[in-house]
Amino acid sequence: MSRVYNFSAGPAVLPEEVLREAAEEMLDYKGCGMSVMEMSHRSSMFQEIIDEAEADIRDLMGIPSNYKVLFLQGGASQQFAMIPMNLMKNRVADYIVTGAWAKKAWKEAQKFGTANCIASSEDQTFNYIPDCSDLPISENADYVYICENNTIYGTKYKTLPNTKGKLLVSDVSSCFLSEPIDVEKYGIVYGGVQKNVGPAGVVISVIREDLITDDVLPGTPTMLQFKTHSDNGSMFNTPPCYGIYICGKVFKWLKKNGGLSAMKERNEKKAKLLYDYLDNSQLFKGTVVPKDRSLMNVPFVTGDKELDALFVKESKAAGLENLKGHRSVGGMRASIYNAMPYEGVEALVNFMKDFEAKH
Ligand SMILES: Cc1ncc(COP(=O)(O)O)c(C=O)c1O
Repeated sequence: MSRVYNFSAGPAVLPEEVLREAAEEMLDYKGCGMSVMEMSHRSSMFQEIIDEAEADIRDLMGIPSNYKVLFLQGGASQQFAMIPMNLMKNRVADYIVTGAWAKKAWKEAQKFGTANCIASSEDQTFNYIPDCSDLPISENADYVYICENNTIYGTKYKTLPNTKGKLLVSDVSSCFLSEPIDVEKYGIVYGGVQKNVGPAGVVISVIREDLITDDVLPGTPTMLQFKTHSDNGSMFNTPPCYGIYICGKVFKWLKKNGGLSAMKERNEKKAKLLYDYLDNSQLFKGTVVPKDRSLMNVPFVTGDKELDALFVKESKAAGLENLKGHRSVGGMRASIYNAMPYEGVEALVNFMKDFEAKH
């Protein structure tokens, strides 16, 4: 068996220890004679798995008791509709458009009411985060929406926007559990887990309790009401059981490795190694305004498309996988999520140095 360093933006690298443990438990979970995949979601064994997962994520993120944790499906993209359907009481919301995912969420919200784009960084291919200290927040906005870490462009909010008292809703798909956050600053903080937390198919949404009501837009399907899932402990219907089980294992791995403060330190160390090299390289250059750089997704280019393609090809041959950049930015992108070891980034930087020396 040989494993590569996987720099995929998502689905992405998971801790090897978690995968090994899951493999060991694959045929017989804790002596019950079956796999978690084969288990009834109504069994006490699965109830224990989901309860423990919730307790662990609460512990890791310091989630206050007046916030619910929901394990949902439909990808982060389904939240683009679910959020306005549940929150748009005045049918007005403000969106800060810092990338393709924020833009998609903004477009989707337009189906349900007036969704204003109150700031955007599209003028420079989303390579920065706009100043959000004094935005024209709508007086009757039901919420202000952000995508906190922009997976494709490699930018991250270093300070949250001043929402002038309005509810903040944040998509943290690509920075989930990568550093501590203050949950109380958000009305909803949610993400697809397939980057930093687990296998695709699970979305975790942390929602302030008072936002979970029956007062949703007319016609909102049962499955798209937060209350449906909240009232039923995320088990109104069959949940993505196996995915939740793996997320639970990742939470335990995070706790064992010092929690989110330790993860932040680790992530900063990894990102610094790569950014420092990019800042000194004659060949490669980072595409993002330095102050807004993400710790998770690092896009870079050589400025020569053929050389970029050669880099992607040769790096793959060297066991460094999925470095091709998103088509809208071009070049390369290294996603260095929690589970990417320091040695993986070191291997990448060493490969880049060799490549630079040759070209
Ligand atoms: C920040 C962000 N939001 C939303 C999405 C969409 O997620 P999904 O594919 O789970 O709908 C992605 C996917 O890559 C993402 O990176």
